[in-house]
Amino acid sequence: MSTTDYAPPQERERWGSRLGLILAMAGNAVGLGNFLRFPNQAVNNGQGAFMVAYFVSLLLLGIPLMWMEWGIGRRGGHFGHSTCPGMFQSLTKMRWAKYAGALGVVMPLLVVIYYVYIESWTLGYAVQSATGTINAQDSATHFNNYLGSDAHFMGVDGMTGSWVAIGFFVVTAAVNLWVLSRGLSKGIEIVAKIGMPVLVLCAIMLVARVLTSDSFEGRTAVDGLNIYWNPSQWTALFDNDQALALFGKGSAAIWLAAAGQIFFTLSVGSGAINTYASYLTRDDDIALTGLATVSTNEFCEVVLGGTLAIPAAFLYFGMSGVQEASSGSMGLAFITMPRVFDHIPLLGGDGGATSVAILGTIWFGLLFVAGITSSLALSQPAMAFFQDTLGMTRNKAAVAVGAIILLFVIPVILQPGVLDEIDYWAGTFGLVLFSTLEVVLLMWVFGSDRAWREIHFGSDIRIPRVFKWVMTWITPLMLIGMLIYWGITAAAPTLFFETDPNGHPYDADTTQGAWIGRTCMLVLAAFFVALVAVAAKRGRFKDVDDLAEDS
Ligand code: PHE
Repeated sequence: MSTTDYAPPQERERWGSRLGLILAMAGNAVGLGNFLRFPNQAVNNGQGAFMVAYFVSLLLLGIPLMWMEWGIGRRGGHFGHSTCPGMFQSLTKMRWAKYAGALGVVMPLLVVIYYVYIESWTLGYAVQSATGTINAQDSATHFNNYLGSDAHFMGVDGMTGSWVAIGFFVVTAAVNLWVLSRGLSKGIEIVAKIGMPVLVLCAIMLVARVLTSDSFEGRTAVDGLNIYWNPSQWTALFDNDQALALFGKGSAAIWLAAAGQIFFTLSVGSGAINTYASYLTRDDDIALTGLATVSTNEFCEVVLGGTLAIPAAFLYFGMSGVQEASSGSMGLAFITMPRVFDHIPLLGGDGGATSVAILGTIWFGLLFVAGITSSLALSQPAMAFFQDTLGMTRNKAAVAVGAIILLFVIPVILQPGVLDEIDYWAGTFGLVLFSTLEVVLLMWVFGSDRAWREIHFGSDIRIPRVFKWVMTWITPLMLIGMLIYWGITAAAPTLFFETDPNGHPYDADTTQGAWIGRTCMLVLAAFFVALVAVAAKRGRFKDVDDLAEDS
């Protein structure tokens, strides 16, 4: 292709309806983060204190960033760009912006590689629950067998993976790509419209069953809620010694974990929200709709996610059981919950196989639905990038995204430590880095007055004015402070192989995993930066190159 024959994107895709948009955005945010990551993070990082830091982060980081990303995304869409390279370029004349925007395509793509893998476990477990083939009593062994995590795969030491897990992965990835290839309103939106109500209904059913369970060895599930709601722990947020004594973590670590959870669960700081918002028209409301997305997510996280696994585990296994369950990142959902279901009486029986089958199918089924509506959102930036920056058709883009996922999941499945490493840089630290970039670009470079106006085009509510000040000063300064502190205390030690992403020393396996994970990340990042350069050469960004001055 020469520089002249670049074909501008055809008619832009749009959301089919406002309800569809709201559900798709809610589906984007509500995911495995709500039901798996949140309970683990809360238990491990300060419990009652965590919750306070969590709500402060929601107010000062999460909600402002949500509005900003909707604003950046809708503006980009208005100028024909569905991904961050074009969006960022529309905010400034500085030419590097589009390259920085490549991060908003690469990061979600990196996350989706392992996210779809975990999502596929939930599908596998749902099917195994329904067919009665889960060994709930010895659920730890079952999980190890499912994943083949015996560090020995096909005779190769240090390699993990089982054919069952790989099979379910391929099916899950194929379903994702098929939905993506159908497009926005016929694919993603339909899945969200069916999936979200089903998910909420399933979760409410489980919550009701858990909370109404009879007491066990003197404990009730409701007592388990005290783990999150314990005001006597709040002072640990400012009292480092108390924090260390109670939780084995310093106050700052609690704040970072809580903020990190807010980013992940709201999907902010990755580019995924921006891309979904780009399919709005400029007079569609974002102020109220963005807030509705946040509220739905918080309901699903704090009320539903918070009331499920931890209280249930507490009821049957006590506080030490809860602590043990949440010591690894996946044990709670895949190892503890089957054992919980085994205890819960249902339909006149006293638990056992019937309960595991029914409750397990609901639990893992709801996780799968939560997962897929998020993995679609994580894949869409790359889909859109291939389509509207390189001119691929939707089907070709789906094949390209699928090929990348299939290729890069191989090390994730086979080598211990790769998943955690990618999750740490692309799914945790990277979100903060990218958010900082966005806020600075939007509020300081583009300008806070214009940003405030941009967000209010077509809006159904006026955002309280204090948020303009929060967005201009508090959010960016908090982010910069976090980056520096986090960088010094945690990111640098991880970068230099002192402590792994879980805070343990690196061992031989995880060191190797880290190298492989980092190589994958760098290769993909370089690939997308190069593609942005190619697209720039073809003139794809001409329309937004000098736009910032006069729009
Ligand atoms: N918010 C999703 C969850 O809670 C994960 C996600 C992160 C999705 C970033 C899109 C972008 O699981």
